[in-house]
Amino acid sequence: MALFAGNINDLNALYTTQLRFLLSTEEQIIEALPKMIGAASDQQLKDALQSHLQETEVHAERLEDVLSELNGDIDSKKCSVTAALISAGENTIKAANDDAVRDAGIIAAAQKVEHFEMASYGTVRSWAQILGHTEQAALLNKTLQEEGHADKLLTKISERANPAASIAA
Ligand SMILES: [Fe+2]
Ligand SMILES: [Fe+2]
Repeated sequence: MALFAGNINDLNALYTTQLRFLLSTEEQIIEALPKMIGAASDQQLKDALQSHLQETEVHAERLEDVLSELNGDIDSKKCSVTAALISAGENTIKAANDDAVRDAGIIAAAQKVEHFEMASYGTVRSWAQILGHTEQAALLNKTLQEEGHADKLLTKISERANPAASIAA
């Protein structure tokens, strides 16, 4: 794997590598979200995931813009952390028989992904600033804010929806 091949010699190379992993993260989320929306029962949860899917498409486009400005290509690198988070979420969704319990599992899975994205975008935004890529930092910060907003909205939904899961038979 390129990450361990010893070709990351400076922060610029590390920055580009992390952006490629993040593009893979967004691509995997774009694939996974429609399945989560289909499996969700709560209408507010479905709507929140649907609008975040549209935001996620923009997140991927922003990364493509940044990568092409840096390197002239928009190749992603498969992020195995995202793959593991999504697959764990899908397993929970499959195993849940009750609608409210399944929704609680979907919220949990989605929030884990949001927090992973927030950690990742916080890092690349800081690196962009250090490296003097001011416009890229602003773009990455926009995405970071949207991930944070999505996470907060999921917390709000969970406060209403999770008690319903607690009374499932
Ligand atoms: Fe995103
Ligand atoms: Fe997100």
